[in-house]
Amino acid sequence: IKNSELKVMGSSYQTDGWTNTTSAIQNKTGCNLLHNPSHPLAILKELIFKEFPSFAYYDSLSPVVSTYQNFDSLGFSKDHPGRSKTDTYYINENTLLRTHTSAHQLQLLVAGKQSDRSLLAQAKNGKAAPGNERFLVAADVYRRDEIDSSHYPVFHQMEAVCTFSRKEIQQLKQQPAHSNTNTQNNFEAHSIAYSQVAKLTDTTVIGNGNPKQPEHTTDEVAFVAEHMKQSMNQMVFQILSKAMAAKKAGGYQASDVSESEFPVRWIDAYFPFTSPSWEMEVFYQGEWLEICGCGIMKQELLDNAGMPDRLGWAFGFGLERLAMLLFGIPDIRLFWSTDPRFTSQFSPGRINAFKPFSRHPSCTKDVSFWLPSIGNFHENDLMDLVRETAGDLVEDVKLIDSFTHPKTGKTSHCYRINYCSMDRNVTNDEINLIQEQVRDQMVKQLGVTLR
Ligand code: PHE
Repeated sequence: IKNSELKVMGSSYQTDGWTNTTSAIQNKTGCNLLHNPSHPLAILKELIFKEFPSFAYYDSLSPVVSTYQNFDSLGFSKDHPGRSKTDTYYINENTLLRTHTSAHQLQLLVAGKQSDRSLLAQAKNGKAAPGNERFLVAADVYRRDEIDSSHYPVFHQMEAVCTFSRKEIQQLKQQPAHSNTNTQNNFEAHSIAYSQVAKLTDTTVIGNGNPKQPEHTTDEVAFVAEHMKQSMNQMVFQILSKAMAAKKAGGYQASDVSESEFPVRWIDAYFPFTSPSWEMEVFYQGEWLEICGCGIMKQELLDNAGMPDRLGWAFGFGLERLAMLLFGIPDIRLFWSTDPRFTSQFSPGRINAFKPFSRHPSCTKDVSFWLPSIGNFHENDLMDLVRETAGDLVEDVKLIDSFTHPKTGKTSHCYRINYCSMDRNVTNDEINLIQEQVRDQMVKQLGVTLR
């Protein structure tokens, strides 16, 4: 697709040497799983929105963003690996499918500052947060990745941004830190008693590789970080409690139900647009789960939004992993299923356990090939080729063998493709035909030599 146009979300874009958005991916844009109130991802989204009543929330922002929005506005360096064509779906050099909801941080802050009605009007509860000083964004995001039961090139994220003026921070700090009836910092979103939240918190000190920004005082960072952690604790606590209640009502897995609290820990992390940054982990059903990236927003971003007098925190996380856990959904492809045996199991506002229906037989095919002697082979190119040809019939694709011939120096790979439909029986003939097409395309698109 050189020198032509690509149509995404109703608009045409000029393609160029960066274009790598396949039609399989193009077809996913505008699917709007988050707008179906009975879809598990939308149910989870609504539960999270409810935890933040003073925030504006957005769930209809187009996935097509500029390279500037997705990377530059957030301080990604020019050579950051996330920008690479092997990881990101580009429409052209300057336009791409967002890889994370953080792509909207600057834009939404600016819209608030400048009272840009066209954007602010897209908030579901537009008037709730004048100035867009606190907001949530739920949206589909796109990343080139491997194929297995927990990776899909389209998934969903929830972003939160919460900013404070320096004056507000001073005022809020005056309030009693450990009130029994109110959450710390008078954060009205939280109805739960602080004492209950407090035992979930393990506030780590700020590490050296992950510094406080020079523009901020230690006190300011301590306040904003604590506010962020309380807010996140609250959200996780409420949602996991609901999941536990659902399990109890379902009358199974009695050992899980006794858990009434969910210990949380904060691991130092790195993101170009927050410092300090953390990864939040929650102990749930015997395991530490990495839930969410978060941190104190880089002051440069707020300066660029015309808000040099404000500080903020932000978090962002994937909805699928949490939804799979809460609803007991075993395969990420199921979120895209239109099989009534899947779709009929959920209803708005409710977390319930998914009852698996009979699995259709799977079928594996191996393909061995010599890597091209010129140019590179990148695994994600193979993944996209398989998706483009086999769609959701492919369950996973794995490298099972690799060797380099001692004399010729040529390298051979063998990949195993596992085909299995989520919702129907597929015949062997059908799979054979698809496998032939995959092999054909591998020669044409990747320049490999089949063995
Ligand atoms: N956007 C980050 C990601 O996708 C998560 C994040 C959001 C981290 C906001 C910090 C603050 O990994």
